[in-house]
Parts: sequence; C-alpha cells; structure tokens
Amino acid sequence: MARLVFRNSGKVMEDTEEIKNFLSKYGVIYDVWGIDRLPEDVRKKYDIDEENQKTIIEAYKPELDELKQKMGYITEDIVVLSDKTPNLDALMEKFKREHHHIDDEVRFVVDGSGIFPVKIEDDIVDIHVEAGELIVVPAGVRHWFELDENRKIKCIRVFKTPAGWEAIYNENEKATMGS
Ligand SMILES: [Fe+2]
Repeated sequence: MARLVFRNSGKVMEDTEEIKNFLSKYGVIYDVWGIDRLPEDVRKKYDIDEENQKTIIEAYKPELDELKQKMGYITEDIVVLSDKTPNLDALMEKFKREHHHIDDEVRFVVDGSGIFPVKIEDDIVDIHVEAGELIVVPAGVRHWFELDENRKIKCIRVFKTPAGWEAIYNENEKATMGS
C-alpha cells in the first residue's frame, strides 16, 4: 500500500485513510481501486498492444467514468516504464526534474510501483504508490517522478488534453497558467 515519506522530518505515513485525508488538503487525490479484476498476464504485460490497453481500460471503466465526469477528464491511455523501455535511464533523469503541468497528472498504477515526490508547503513528500492505487497531482503543483527498486511501472493516464501534459520546468511560468 501507499506510503508517504516527508523528507524534512523523516515522518512516515502508512495508514490509507490518513494518507487520503492528508493529501486531500492539498488537492492531491489518493484512492485504491485494486487489481483483483485483472488477470495477472494482462497486468504484467509490458510490451503493451491495443488489446491489452483496451482490456485494462474496460476493466476500470466504472471508476474511470466517475473520475472523468467529476474532474472533466476526457481521455485515457496506458503508459509503461521498464527495462524494456529504450533509454530508460536517460528518460528517468528527465522525469526527475521538478516541474508542473497546466492539467492534473492522473495515474492509476496497474502494475509495478513508483514515487511521486510532491512539494507540499515547505517540504517534499515522497508519495510511494503501487499496483491498484490512484494518484492525482493537481495542475500547478510542483512534482517529479522516480522509479523505485522495482524499476517498472504500468499506469493508466487520464487527461483533459494531451497538450496539458507537457512538463513546465520553470516554476515562474506558473503565473501564465491562466488558472
Ligand atoms: Fe509530471
């Protein structure tokens, strides 16, 4: 299950409800949808094809539809990172750069795990997520992404527009976000 590690204080939070409540104060959504509904071979396939993507998205349709309706998202896809990903190390270096987006960053973890360090107040909170968990980092919130020792993650991404997805590295560009 998810774990929050506060870099400044070293505090660790592991209780699901406590994590949900804490993050919600900062507009970060954390939820558990589970993985029981997916066959293991579907879940653990990293050379994804159209059929694999369709099967996964269909399996989570009720939750996805509810989230999309509530938050105004319109589309979703599947993204994978693993040792099969070309130039994984270079890509991970890029993902480690602090940034924000003009749209929310929405990830449901289908398999594997990872860390979303998020700037909250004056601290950096490492949000460790694993299979079956949803995280929504709101637009404008500074964050980055790191793989953990498993070095693989497979996620459903949900968005409003693909353009909202571009990383904005310069914090001062926040002012031009128009929100
Ligand atoms: Fe991001």
